[in-house]
Amino acid sequence: MQATLGGKTVLITGSSRGIGAELARQAAAAGASVLLVARDDTALAQVSRQIRDAGGHAHPYVCDLSDFAALDALVAQILAEHGGVDVLIHNAARSIRRPIARSLDRFHDFERTMQLNYFAPVRLSLGLLPSLRERAGCIGLVLSMGVLIPGPYFAAYLASKAALDVFGDSLAAEFHHEGVHVCSVYLPLVRTEMMAPTKDYANRNDVLSVEQAATLTLRGVVERRRRVITRRGAHLGAWNRIGPMLTTRMLSFLYATFPPSDTPSQHPKIHALFTKYVGGSPL
Ligand SMILES: NC(=O)c1ccc[n+]([C@@H]2O[C@H](COP(=O)([O-])OP(=O)(O)OC[C@H]3O[C@@H](n4cnc5c(N)ncnc54)[C@H](OP(=O)(O)O)[C@@H]3O)[C@@H](O)[C@H]2O)c1
Repeated sequence: MQATLGGKTVLITGSSRGIGAELARQAAAAGASVLLVARDDTALAQVSRQIRDAGGHAHPYVCDLSDFAALDALVAQILAEHGGVDVLIHNAARSIRRPIARSLDRFHDFERTMQLNYFAPVRLSLGLLPSLRERAGCIGLVLSMGVLIPGPYFAAYLASKAALDVFGDSLAAEFHHEGVHVCSVYLPLVRTEMMAPTKDYANRNDVLSVEQAATLTLRGVVERRRRVITRRGAHLGAWNRIGPMLTTRMLSFLYATFPPSDTPSQHPKIHALFTKYVGGSPL
């Protein structure tokens, strides 16, 4: 990582906590000058201080990426202060776990997730693309394993991640020959504040740590891999492509087994088995 990231300017969105903060710490430890972006100035200052105390270079930028005027001002400031970036990692996102049947009066959920998870990374990419082309840079997309096998509960979130995934594919196809690389990372569940509100996940035994998720992501970027997919993600994704109707039946069965918490399970024995061996809801 040091050979690739040493002396490079690496921008990481959503780096005030969770996976983004750890990405920033690991990139800085590898010698990168890290630009940290998020809304919480206190948390950003704290992560930046940790990086500097460890001998690294950190530059915090407070920005609400959902606000396009603020995002454009951020791009202008970064170009003025750093001339551009070598690596851009789109990590900031919001997740919503809510069934569509309970979203009938919540169109704003779909708008807000698209605004932050899709339109903001697209706009930031467009603003920084000239410098990424000059530097034969790399764009990292922090996506979700759910994009490979989209299921119930996460329609708004997964649709926004899928849109970003496809944008990344087009970017890669148009700029690969110029040396600009796109690395799409399909993470499974990671123990952060994002998954904390879902009590069904509290005891899941297949959850990555923040450190594991950040290392997986950064290694993919450094090694210029096109996609980073865990073995389970690859199996589930292949299953979804080969047998889409069977996949839908399975997911629908699991949704009936693990309905919203105020609704009784239609398959209590399967529910108990999953709870015993997986530690909670697989959805
Ligand atoms: N945790 C999981 O299970 C999991 C699984 C698969 C993929 N992922 C993906 O991994 C990435 C990081 O997730 P995480 O679990 O680390 O989430 P997290 O702990 O909730 O952190 C989200 C980060 O995004 C920032 N952010 C949120 N809204 C923002 C806005 N409007 N403008 C700028 N920054 C904003 C937050 O900082 P501020 O609040 O300070 O703005 C924070 O730094 C996301 O893309 C997520 O979809 C997570």
